[in-house]
Amino acid sequence: MRTKIVAGNWKMNKNLKEGIDFIKETVHQIITADLTGAEVIFATPFIHLRKGVKEVKKLNFCAIAAQNCHWENSGAYTGEIAASMIASTGATHCIVGHSERRQYFNENSEQLSKKINQCLEQELTPIYCVGETLDIREAHRHYTHIELQIVEGLFHLSEEQIQQVVVAYEPVWAIGTGVNASPQQAQEIHAFIRKALEHQYNADIAGRIRILYGGSVKPNNAAELFSQPDVDGGLIGGASLQVDDFMSIIRAAQ
Ligand code: PGA
Repeated sequence: MRTKIVAGNWKMNKNLKEGIDFIKETVHQIITADLTGAEVIFATPFIHLRKGVKEVKKLNFCAIAAQNCHWENSGAYTGEIAASMIASTGATHCIVGHSERRQYFNENSEQLSKKINQCLEQELTPIYCVGETLDIREAHRHYTHIELQIVEGLFHLSEEQIQQVVVAYEPVWAIGTGVNASPQQAQEIHAFIRKALEHQYNADIAGRIRILYGGSVKPNNAAELFSQPDVDGGLIGGASLQVDDFMSIIRAAQ
């Protein structure tokens, strides 16, 4: 049984007070409604990490994630944050390779595989994002594209390391557009990713890795997406910014 994950990716939103108030209120509602059957992760800007960790520290169903880290452990990289620094806040997860990082910051596979290594060295769980653009899907190249992202980002990992990773399938055409992949489209790709993991490692390992869907997950489509056999929860952008929306999605993951 894979426990579902609902991870809210705030992107560049919420100041310190807004963010911490949000975490407090969400945690309060989760406990009051006894909705502790899924793991809930808040992927916040760096400024919220430390205080966020304090809010969730005693709760085994909640965690704090960063949205990015650098591929080196230290050095002359002005404005960057190392995985070791993230880990020192008590945060336990880090998103790696979000399509906005790939697209706007030109992150490539070599950098991303190093970021994964940095996370694992610091015992941070990487949430590794893959997904195709609309052009690639329309050209029917999405399977090979996603396979390459998985191979280049993850397949250098040992059997032990790969089990520390969470994968997120996020079709770029679905992110922030209001057009989600259909549950069938999501399931097809998730099953394909799991097969690739099985082929490289084994069925037992592939069966244990959580694969999240991201891209316009909303209160009205979350339950159906999460009911697919290989969809182990979601990485939520826009709908993770309002407590009511985020709570509806957490409820759908129970
Ligand atoms: P969205 O973003 O839910 O706003 O589409 C998802 C993401 O980018 O992780």
